[in-house]
Amino acid sequence: MFGKRNSSAPDLSPRPAPPAAKPVVGEAVNAGTDTNVDQAPAPPQAASAPAEAAPAPAAPARKAPERARSEEYYDVKTTVFNALIDTIDLTALAKLDADAAREEIRDIVNEIVAIKNVVMSIAEQEELLQDICNDVLGYGPLEPLLMRDDIADIMVNGAETTYIEVGGKVEASSIRFASNAQLMNICQRIVSQVGRRVDESSPICDARLPDGSRVNVIAPPLSIDGPALTIRKFKKDRLTLDQLQRYGSISPEGRTLLSIIGRVRCNVLISGGTGSGKTTLLNCLTAYIEPDERVITCEDSAELQLQQPHVVRLETRPPNLEGEGEITMRDLVKNCLRMRPDRIVVGEVRGPEAFDLLQAMNTGHDGSMGTLHSNSPRECLSRLESMILMGGFNLPARTIREMITSSVDIIVQASRMRDAAAKITHITEVVGLEGEIVTLQDLFIYDVAGEDANGRIVGRHRSTGIARPYFYERARYFGDDKRLTECLSSAEVNDEHGRPLGEKFATA
Ligand SMILES: Nc1ncnc2c1ncn2[C@@H]1O[C@H](COP(=O)(O)OP(=O)(O)OP(=O)(O)O)[C@@H](O)[C@H]1O
Ligand SMILES: [Mg+2]
Repeated sequence: MFGKRNSSAPDLSPRPAPPAAKPVVGEAVNAGTDTNVDQAPAPPQAASAPAEAAPAPAAPARKAPERARSEEYYDVKTTVFNALIDTIDLTALAKLDADAAREEIRDIVNEIVAIKNVVMSIAEQEELLQDICNDVLGYGPLEPLLMRDDIADIMVNGAETTYIEVGGKVEASSIRFASNAQLMNICQRIVSQVGRRVDESSPICDARLPDGSRVNVIAPPLSIDGPALTIRKFKKDRLTLDQLQRYGSISPEGRTLLSIIGRVRCNVLISGGTGSGKTTLLNCLTAYIEPDERVITCEDSAELQLQQPHVVRLETRPPNLEGEGEITMRDLVKNCLRMRPDRIVVGEVRGPEAFDLLQAMNTGHDGSMGTLHSNSPRECLSRLESMILMGGFNLPARTIREMITSSVDIIVQASRMRDAAAKITHITEVVGLEGEIVTLQDLFIYDVAGEDANGRIVGRHRSTGIARPYFYERARYFGDDKRLTECLSSAEVNDEHGRPLGEKFATA
């Protein structure tokens, strides 16, 4: 909406005379001339404001209510917005700080509303002002959603449809964009902040909001019903193991076990499906890294928030428009090895970097960690193997498996249950190779008992009765052996005959 108008919207005539001169009101910015220089044969609706006129998005002063609005409201808003754009000097506005710009817009909007005789209550006028400020200074209708801390994901499927994920549940949101052109404009504004462009010729783009939220845009013609924008909101305060325990994602004993695994420098892979809490868990585990260890993190989009002082954060880079300059995860992991890390943390292993991470784990970088997309500890191993094979390493399967067993100590499995609750379902040791098969040993599992009346999963975490895990010696070396055996034995559960349940329900 910034600097362009919705041609389909009704226009109030006669056009108002520009309100009395304001400090930033200069020459009228004609929306017709307000096209994006980048977009050569820009379709009429794809016009957007020049980059320099887009100041950093400002946080609105209060939380905007998210409720359905009438067609009439959108008509009035379009009218006022168009009059505003005709009146205001966007370049001058861009030089003001967010509060001053907001005040400026407020004065002009109030005048336009008065001139046009729009009948509105003070509250409605305030809401209109808020919306218009969001359009001019920020990310338009997305702003109220971006401000909410309880939203994990925002999924915009074209101008008319937006879904949000709140508390693990996906629900429809009432926000909508004036048109696909406005949505495309906002997408463009988001990605241009990281020096990228999204349009018909390069319709797929990954970007990041200034607050660290991860953004993906796929535009028409690839997405058929208008631009699709997906935002994984950056959590300022990532969940801690304390909170995971409170939410029942892990039991107190399981949490102790994880803390020991993190502290005694086991090499860990966190496995799980999309949105199952892998990154959250990885972040939690890094809390047990000692402050004097040198940690290097490699991520596609920096999400981890390590608290230690000695951390180097690396991020991959996609190729530029000419297809050059790409830096892959593998490049980063390989480079890490020359940076004298104590531990390497890979945000998400999804390709041939698996090989380099395993090598790093195997060559003295104990306590390295990564996440991997898979649905069970067993599948995690086969995914790892196929990533290495697909990377073109011409190694026999047995060699790859030997490499896996000698590198990975622990697989932690995160899952979203049917009721959307995130649970840690397995803490599993990679034991060794029997013939051609990698042997796994569950230390800690989650048994599902059933569902309660509200459809919530009922179950319990328990240890499988292994008193001496394979990493016991390592725990002893770090002085954590007693804590380890205590926590495993206290989480044991016996059956009705008093015998330990063992791995009865384990699915790995
Ligand atoms: N145990 C949990 N309980 C409740 N919410 C959780 C839990 N773990 C993670 N979440 C929330 O779920 C969302 C997704 O978490 P996270 O980013 O860690 O998942 P992920 O598996 O890394 O996702 P992706 O596959 O997209 O990388 C976040 O908003 C996070 O705060
Ligand atoms: Mg993740």
